[in-house]
Amino acid sequence: MMSGGDHGEHVNKQRDDWNAVADAWERYDSWLSDNFASFDKALIERAGIRPGHKTLDLGSGTGNPALAAARMVGPQGSVVGVDVADKMLDVARRRAQTMGIDNVEFHVCHAGAIPFADDSFDAATSRFCLMFLPDVAAALGGVHRALKPGARFTAAVWSAPDKNLSFTLAMKVLQNFADAPSPDPSAPGPFSLGAPGKLKGYMEEAGFTDAIEEAIPVEMSFPSVEFYISNMKEMAAPVRAILEQMDEQSRARAMDAIVEEVKKFETPDGAIRFNSEAMIVSGMKASA
Ligand SMILES: C[S@@+](CC[C@H](N)C(=O)[O-])C[C@H]1O[C@@H](n2cnc3c(N)ncnc32)[C@H](O)[C@@H]1O
Repeated sequence: MMSGGDHGEHVNKQRDDWNAVADAWERYDSWLSDNFASFDKALIERAGIRPGHKTLDLGSGTGNPALAAARMVGPQGSVVGVDVADKMLDVARRRAQTMGIDNVEFHVCHAGAIPFADDSFDAATSRFCLMFLPDVAAALGGVHRALKPGARFTAAVWSAPDKNLSFTLAMKVLQNFADAPSPDPSAPGPFSLGAPGKLKGYMEEAGFTDAIEEAIPVEMSFPSVEFYISNMKEMAAPVRAILEQMDEQSRARAMDAIVEEVKKFETPDGAIRFNSEAMIVSGMKASA
C-alpha cells in the first residue's frame, strides 16, 4: 500500500494514463470481447446477479462487466459503474447506446471514495481494476458498506507476472531499454494483487465472509505479431506510459526487441497465443 500523501498523485496519473488509451480501447472492442467475455460471465455468476437487481461495478472502464450485468438485471434492475477516467466512461456510454442498454449509469469517481448510500446494492463486480488502487482496503471497505447484507462482491485481477506473459514480455523488454528499475511488486500495478490469498485477505479484512478464490486460466490470442505490437502500444496503459518516457531511438530499438521475443510465440497460422491466468475472488457481506 502507498503512503497517504501519494494517493492523489497516483490516482491522477492513473486517470491520465487510462484516458490516453480510451480511444484504443474503443477500437479494440471486439478483440477485448473475444478474449475477455468469459470473465464477465464468471463475475456475474459468482456475484449472484439476477433480474431486478441493482448492482455496482468498480473501474468499469469502457463498460465491462457493467454492460453485461445491465443485460442480466433487465428492465426492472439497474447498474451503476464508476471509474476515475472520464474518457473510458465516454466509450462505455457510447457502447451502452449502441447496444440499446438504458438501465446503466456511469459516474466519474475514485473507487476508493464511492459516494453511495449504505446497504444500497444487491451485488458488486470489478474486472481488472482493484490492482491499480493505492488503498485497496479503503475501496473494499466502501463496497462492503454500500452492499446490502447477504450481497456478494466478485472481482477479477491478474495473477502472477510469470503466468501472464502476453503482458510481462513487453514490460520486461521495455524496462531494460528504459533503464528503469523493476517495479516494486507491492506497489499498485497489473500484478500487485495476484499472489494467492492476497485479495482474499483484503476482502476478509474488509468484513466479507465466505470468501472464495479461484485461479482461472484464459488464452490470450492475437491474430498476428503486428496486431500484438499495436495492441500493447496503444491499449496497455502501463506499456504506453513507459514508451512515452523514452526517446525515439530507444523506443524503436525496444519495439524491435519486443517483436523478436513475441515471434517465439507465433503459431503456424501466424497468430500469437499465450496462456494467461486471473484470480477471481468473491465474498459476501454477512447478514446483520
Ligand atoms: C484494465 S482497465 C479495466 C476496465 C474494465 N473493467 C475492463 O475490464 O475492461 C482498468 C480500469 O481501472 C480504472 N481505474 C484505475 N484506477 C482507478 C481508481 N482509483 N478509481 C476508479 N477507477 C480506476 C482505470 O481508469 C481503467 O478504466
